[in-house]
Amino acid sequence: MERDVTSIVLLLSGPNLNLLGEREPVIYGTATLADHVATATEAAATHGMVVDHLQSNHEGDLIDAIHAARGRCVAIVINPGALTHYAWSIHDALAAFEGPVIELHLSDPKTREPWRHLSVVEPVADQTIAGLGGDGYRLAIDTVAALLAH
Ligand code: DQA
Repeated sequence: MERDVTSIVLLLSGPNLNLLGEREPVIYGTATLADHVATATEAAATHGMVVDHLQSNHEGDLIDAIHAARGRCVAIVINPGALTHYAWSIHDALAAFEGPVIELHLSDPKTREPWRHLSVVEPVADQTIAGLGGDGYRLAIDTVAALLAH
């Protein structure tokens, strides 16, 4: 598919991801959220896309950003943090977005505590990328480009 150079991918980061680099580094690594956003931004540039990033610790902010992406962004990559496991309002907002949705996690929640095994985002995600640490950010963008090309 031909895409305009201004194609925007919305990258959303949920609660506590602002603490990456300091927060449980054994699980989440030592890279900061800014490092991951830079990785995504570089990957997007190779596909002629740009990344708009928002991190919020508030569910409503993420929902507002998803609504604002309708008709403006070509895809959404979202690491919803713990909201992954219970925020049906995020599920519903993503369901109303027309483009590809990639669910992204640094760790693999399905191999962790039982309460992390349910993802309410998974049913509305075109792909889920989990357990690859920071590499997942590059892969998520590459996946967006591949999905848009089909
Ligand atoms: C996470 C996994 C979630 O279970 C957790 O609550 C997070 C981060 C991840 O990236 O591995 O905050 O989404």
